[in-house]
Amino acid sequence: MFVKVCRVDQLKQNRGRPVYAGTTKVAMFKIGDEIYAIRNACPHAGASLSVGDVRGLVVTCPRHDWTFNVSTGACLNRKMYSVKTYPVEVRGNEVWVDPGD
Ligand code: FES
Repeated sequence: MFVKVCRVDQLKQNRGRPVYAGTTKVAMFKIGDEIYAIRNACPHAGASLSVGDVRGLVVTCPRHDWTFNVSTGACLNRKMYSVKTYPVEVRGNEVWVDPGD
C-alpha cells in the first residue's frame, strides 16, 4: 500500500533524504527527473544509505564504501548483495512509496 513520505520539493538533486514509509526506513533519491526509493539500511552493517555520496545512479555507503544502484538495488562491488527497492509514485507535489508491508 502506498504511503506519502515527503514532498517533491523536499528532495534535492543527487542527495539522499531519509524518510519513513509506515515503519520502514527508506532512502529517497532524486536523480534527473526520476525519484528512487531504497531501504535505508546497508546490507553490510546497516549504515544509512541516505547520507551516501551519489554519482549518477550509484550511491556509496558512508561506512565501508559498498556501492549500490538506486534503480535496481544491485550492489556493484559485492555482487551477491543488494538493497531492497520500493515503487515510487508522484502525486502532484507529493511523493508516495509502497513499502510492501
Ligand atoms: S555498512 Fe555499508 S558498506 Fe559497511
